[in-house]
Amino acid sequence: MKISFANLALPTTGAAVAFVLEGGKLSASAAALDKATKGALRRAIKASRFKGKRGQTLSVLAPAGAKLDRILLIGLGKAKDVDAKAMQRAGGYAYAGLANTGRTALSVLADGIEGAKVKPAEAAANIAYGARLRSYRFDKYRTQEKADAKPSLRTFKVLSKASAAARRAYGPLAKIADGVEMTRDLVSEPPNVIYPATLAKRAQELTKLGVKVQVLGEAQMKRLGMGALLGVGQGSIRESKLVVMQWNGAGARSTEKPVAFVGKGVTFDTGGISLKPGAGMEDMKWDMGGSGVVIGLMKALAGRKAKVNAVGVVGLVENMPGGNAQRPGDIVTSMSGQTIEILNTDAEGRLVLADALHYTIEKFAPKFVVDLATLTGAIIISLGNEYAGMFSNSDQLCDRLSKAGKQVDEKVWRMPMGDAYDKMLKSEAADMQNIGGRAGGSITAAQFLKRFVGKTPWAHLDIAGVTWSKNDAPTVPKGGTAFGVRLLNQLVANHYEKK
Ligand code: BES
Ligand code: MN
Ligand code: ZN
Repeated sequence: MKISFANLALPTTGAAVAFVLEGGKLSASAAALDKATKGALRRAIKASRFKGKRGQTLSVLAPAGAKLDRILLIGLGKAKDVDAKAMQRAGGYAYAGLANTGRTALSVLADGIEGAKVKPAEAAANIAYGARLRSYRFDKYRTQEKADAKPSLRTFKVLSKASAAARRAYGPLAKIADGVEMTRDLVSEPPNVIYPATLAKRAQELTKLGVKVQVLGEAQMKRLGMGALLGVGQGSIRESKLVVMQWNGAGARSTEKPVAFVGKGVTFDTGGISLKPGAGMEDMKWDMGGSGVVIGLMKALAGRKAKVNAVGVVGLVENMPGGNAQRPGDIVTSMSGQTIEILNTDAEGRLVLADALHYTIEKFAPKFVVDLATLTGAIIISLGNEYAGMFSNSDQLCDRLSKAGKQVDEKVWRMPMGDAYDKMLKSEAADMQNIGGRAGGSITAAQFLKRFVGKTPWAHLDIAGVTWSKNDAPTVPKGGTAFGVRLLNQLVANHYEKK
């Protein structure tokens, strides 16, 4: 879909979108459209339950007096609550309201809203951003879809009196959307297409944006002593990989310590010898979601030339049963030197992260490290599909993540940690075991990770509940959500970039 900006003027043909505030107050353009259509809009509002509340929409078809095919009214709620996020949602509604109507083009009449928290240019840019985010569709393997079942919309125009400034403001937002889309692509791909080597290849595409990308194979990881990560991948015929991405955007201050992001990249999680039940196992194609977010985040940061030094490290493995697979009872030695008794081969993500985290901290001495992982089913029991679980040794990092999460609507909820939970990992045979039992399953998983982190400020985001969505949301169509890309981009923008 092509997104463009132009000056505010009433369109005379095609489809138009205009805004209404709570209580039914029409924007200036909506009022002008109402006049041009001899009062069709106000009559339609009267004949419906549309009140201009946030998220309400009303379609008016072929209004007399104008050549317009359709006018879509979108409710914005109260003016004082209208912020950038609200405009993103409005863009999402505009797209969704027209995408499948057979229309190929629409114009959004993005009037400035008196009393709103956003200026006209920012509002217009965020409408475009929201529409772009909502328009994502993973359809490359659908070969027999009928034309009238596919989205028809090709051109999305935002009309604003500040169109030049809006176009400029949209620039970096489009780069974030590029990152989000890459992540959504990666988690949507089937596991016969995306496995460690091919996922590493996709990450290597970031070199085009100036990201330095290094791929370590099994021989190199063996030399580094990554017995925890390698143990998980040993049952697969696919070679495990570790991908290290570096974006040095801090310019003259390029010796400055980087911020670091680490992702779990289990390209398929069968559970291994501790095999998962068959029903729903296909979901485990997105067990590489954390790595997908780290790759998409690096794309967003590099794409918008963020003034920060950032490293992204992803541990890529396929967890398969097989003649050479890891067994319950095996003891492995991690890169940190700590030994781990494997009691359940399905608790594999923490093993991958143990080595990826240790490597990242030892090699880069980052300011902080945030890891993302679809780590436990238990976090879905705790928090459902609304919040990611956050576990951390740093109050400051938690505060910053919570605030960034609210800004971009990717919310995180801090969970407790402590010695009592750590003790649940005590092993009879090794330094620790890889499971802590059913109680507090997400917490013991986090305690396990903490043993590989040391004193570096660290946060672990358990994204098992938020990586894949079964329902459309205003700016997130169902499927891969890319939860984490916008959150961590915002974290960086808020605190770690020099203006
Ligand atoms: N990848 C799963 C966690 C998961 C479950 C992600 C559902 C997304 C949706 C992880 O590797 C796993 O299998 N965890 C086990 C841990 C247990 C064996 C201690 C779990 O949650 O059951
Ligand atoms: Mn597992
Ligand atoms: Zn897993």
